[in-house]
Amino acid sequence: MKIGCVKEIKNNEFRVGLTPDNVRAYVAAGHHVYMEKGAGIGSGFADNEYVDAGASLIDNAADVWHLSDMMIKVKEPLPEEYSLFHEGLILYTYLHLAADKEQMDALLDGKVKAVAYETIQEDRFLPCLAPMSQIAGRLSIQEGAKYLEKKFGGEGILLAGVPGTPKANVVILGGGTVGMNACKIAVGMGANVTILDVNLKRLEELDNMFGAHIQTLVSNDSNVERVVKDADLVIGSVLIPGGSTPKLFKKKYLPEMKNGAVFVDVAIDQGGCGESSHVTTHDDPVFIEDGVVHYCVGNMPGAVPRTSTIALTNATLKYGLMIAKDGLEEASKKNAAIYSGVNCYLGKLTNKNVALAHGYDFTELSEMI
Ligand SMILES: NC(=O)c1ccc[n+]([C@@H]2O[C@H](COP(=O)([O-])OP(=O)(O)OC[C@H]3O[C@@H](n4cnc5c(N)ncnc54)[C@H](O)[C@@H]3O)[C@@H](O)[C@H]2O)c1
Repeated sequence: MKIGCVKEIKNNEFRVGLTPDNVRAYVAAGHHVYMEKGAGIGSGFADNEYVDAGASLIDNAADVWHLSDMMIKVKEPLPEEYSLFHEGLILYTYLHLAADKEQMDALLDGKVKAVAYETIQEDRFLPCLAPMSQIAGRLSIQEGAKYLEKKFGGEGILLAGVPGTPKANVVILGGGTVGMNACKIAVGMGANVTILDVNLKRLEELDNMFGAHIQTLVSNDSNVERVVKDADLVIGSVLIPGGSTPKLFKKKYLPEMKNGAVFVDVAIDQGGCGESSHVTTHDDPVFIEDGVVHYCVGNMPGAVPRTSTIALTNATLKYGLMIAKDGLEEASKKNAAIYSGVNCYLGKLTNKNVALAHGYDFTELSEMI
């Protein structure tokens, strides 16, 4: 198969769909890879590394789109890329179509076979989303520690303290993938950690993982209010799959909190779990409300594109190789995870939730392949 990879054009997006090691794997499997010049620079991969791995370097993105049977990206195509679609092209990337009707219409009109990383599902696990939650979780403590510094508006407390001084209190709302990874780093940095979740089974797992290093609490209004009052750093990491994020972190708590405490609302990409949250960017990541520093960046993994690219492609390579080997149709028949990833197929919507979100007809992929 002819595989293409272009430079991401979304603002502040430095990840890339293929690493040189990925290219080596596709080439070893007998495929041809076209890389746009400079596509990997933002993630620290030079053009010559791709050439050494066996890719053909192409000067401009339009030619890569034109030459490819399968385009491997990171972010959804932007409107300036829609005219580059061609019928039967396999597009393998994050799409988030439920929130993007314009893009969905463009993929349907272009008769693209669009496979969305975020809907690839193995059992109940989302293997191409999890690495980004792991990164965001770990990064949330790193960013929180930074904004606790005085010069960034924080109260000026070191997470671990030193002998003779109090440690910082870190409160984590939601103990899923983000929350567990935040917990790991906060514990590792020596903070006092409290983690809240509604799922008792999850709290038991966290208790078994971290033992005496953390306090687990059931998440309800009174527990949240009590712990955030003493918190130096609060991490928002709740998710109700397919539902709107509950606003656990209420505005009325802010005046009761320490001046210069930090709230990192990782869940902001789903609307956020803070009543006072609004989305921010890497260029301007924080704002202060009632003395509490709010960090609400919607694409946190973009801060560490090298790690994010490698983590993402570690997860996407496996399915990409299957699609390249068998074609999308056969690969979808053989592999339920790939089947669940197909959102659009030759002008039809094949993801039920996306169809529901836009009031469009849904077609079962198996009726067409
Ligand atoms: N900002 C970013 O860059 C970024 C990156 C990755 C993930 N995220 C977001 O982070 C959020 C968490 O993702 P995840 O992968 O950890 O999800 P997850 O499903 O693994 O975990 C969510 C947890 O929230 C818990 N929860 C649900 N309702 C709750 C409540 N009322 N109180 C306390 N806990 C509750 C669930 O039981 C679950 O354990 C999502 O919104 C995700 O989109 C953001």
